[in-house]
Amino acid sequence: MSERVIPLVDQRMAPLAVPRPARAAAHATPAPGLLHDTLGRPLRDLRISVTDRCNFRCTYCMPKEVFDKDYPYLRHGDLLRFEEIARLAGVFVAQGVRKIRLTGGEPLLRKDIELLVGQLAALRTPEGEPLDLTLTTNGSLLGRKAAALRAAGLQRVTVSLDGLDDAVFRRMNDVDFPVADVLRGIDAAREAGLGPVKVNMVVKRGTNEHEILPMARHFKGSDIVLRFIEYMDVGATNRWRMDEVLPSAEVMQMIHREMPLVPLEPAAPGETAERWAYADGSGEVGFISSVTQAFCRDCNRARLSTEGQLYLCLFASRGYDLRELVRGGASDADIAAALAAIWQGRDDRYSELRASLPPDAGNDRGRRVEMSYIGG
Ligand code: GTP
Ligand code: 5AD
Ligand code: SF4
Ligand code: SF4
Repeated sequence: MSERVIPLVDQRMAPLAVPRPARAAAHATPAPGLLHDTLGRPLRDLRISVTDRCNFRCTYCMPKEVFDKDYPYLRHGDLLRFEEIARLAGVFVAQGVRKIRLTGGEPLLRKDIELLVGQLAALRTPEGEPLDLTLTTNGSLLGRKAAALRAAGLQRVTVSLDGLDDAVFRRMNDVDFPVADVLRGIDAAREAGLGPVKVNMVVKRGTNEHEILPMARHFKGSDIVLRFIEYMDVGATNRWRMDEVLPSAEVMQMIHREMPLVPLEPAAPGETAERWAYADGSGEVGFISSVTQAFCRDCNRARLSTEGQLYLCLFASRGYDLRELVRGGASDADIAAALAAIWQGRDDRYSELRASLPPDAGNDRGRRVEMSYIGG
């Protein structure tokens, strides 16, 4: 009998109290762009989850036995409305954010998502520049939506794809979704001008490692950037085990033996991926190695959950309730001051700390928030 993991109430844990600086303190809010946390890390990247639902059931993210028909998804009234998201995003941008990524769950399941994209595309940095506005999707609805998203002002997309072999792909998404439809979605995104398109492949030892070379061969020579992601101990439902992690160094060697690679300089500080180019000039690949080579040192990412809680780390168990602030009538200056106080108190560096745990330490922290709720 399969043992049912209890759906965790993790996302319903009491949020952290939002610091409420005295009104006068709003004047002391640091000048835009000068917000740093306790480890000196600026706030640059905001990931906004727009739904906790997904039409896939990737075993490493939303395992079927937990995310079944009885799973307590958020109710519509609990979700941040588009206007609330756009307003909060405006405050984040004034405080230094330069990149916004829409995530989920599957963000394209949120009704009229292109309206939100339009509102975010209208935001400008204090210097008058548009943001780097992007979205992570499983690609299943891209064929239908790519043109509308582009027209609304989305700049690019990242598509999750864990293999090219149809049987492997169907097994990993666990809803029998055909790989050909995702490949068509990727093409639609390119044709709509949503490039450079990135493809993210989570590598699980024993599950899809034999897909690494076919994936590399397939995207080599295209303008698509393939990135290999180490399977992470995120959330509390995927029963993560270290022996299922295939270190990026091994993936890199595997590719390098057949298709020689040369290192590239990082494109931006705090990047997740280490970038390598094919020595013959036919494109690049990336490796995201949060298990074997944590990149917390420069982590400039904040995450806004579907219901408006601000998480300072992918592995946090609690967030700060910004929705309450917004719905309680706070002014933009109040929100900016609260955000400054929150960011300035941040000391999260989970992946770095995990690296000091014994290799056989499993994913046993029961209270961690799920990636489908907080957004990748
Ligand atoms: P680009 O701007 O397109 O390069 O995107 P990105 O690499 O910043 O973001 P993306 O959402 O594509 O990240 C890819 C994957 O890296 C995610 O799905 C996660 O698996 C992982 N990841 C992203 N951010 C973090 C982070 O802050 N910590 C950890 N541990 N993993 C992260
Ligand atoms: N490990 C690594 N990446 C994960 N994602 C979800 N769960 C995990 C995990 N356990 C990421 C993948 C996917 C995105 C939506 O979230 O990159 O593409
Ligand atoms: Fe859905 Fe992406 Fe999670 Fe898969 S990894 S279940 S596609 S949110
Ligand atoms: Fe940032 Fe937390 Fe990821 Fe480290 S583990 S890179 S602090 S989100």
